[in-house]
Amino acid sequence: MALTAWLKPGETLGDRVMKVDHAGEHGAICIYTAQRWLARWRAPEMIDELDAFLAHEYGHRALFGAELRRRNKRRCRSYALCGIGGFMLGSLTGLAGRQAIAATTVAIEHVVLRHMQEQLRILRGVDEPAARTLRAILSEEQEHHDISVARLTSGGFWSKLITPVVSLSTEEVIWLGMRL
Ligand SMILES: [Fe+2]
Ligand SMILES: [Fe+2]
Repeated sequence: MALTAWLKPGETLGDRVMKVDHAGEHGAICIYTAQRWLARWRAPEMIDELDAFLAHEYGHRALFGAELRRRNKRRCRSYALCGIGGFMLGSLTGLAGRQAIAATTVAIEHVVLRHMQEQLRILRGVDEPAARTLRAILSEEQEHHDISVARLTSGGFWSKLITPVVSLSTEEVIWLGMRL
């Protein structure tokens, strides 16, 4: 997988990756916030887990945000889109219940982990602060993925429906963020 971006004058690849990932973490916060509220009704046993994921995502967004401030860079143009899209996706899947909630996390984290590993591979030794930020959050993203995989019934309806749609949307949002 190639890591390509349309950079603005004075912007590095590391800058852009920090922006896109910062916007993505904002999207994750919006997804889990919506799911968490609906889980009170649809999947009460998942609330503690969703709270833990949400706390991680706040931490991730803050790390990328701090890195952007240090670089004197603005947030990504895709930031609001990630928030609105995340909230809509979180609401729909939260309504659908526990299998849909887990399938969403698995689909997103699968794409996100692949992108972050690629970003880390490219930025390592080139932009160490960016690489360090990625390393700091990767294990938590892996944890969200693994915990949610364990919850999924294999071949389940929600997983079959959600995986392609959510994977493609996540890819599209990242693609767009790298080019806006
Ligand atoms: Fe995250
Ligand atoms: Fe995550």
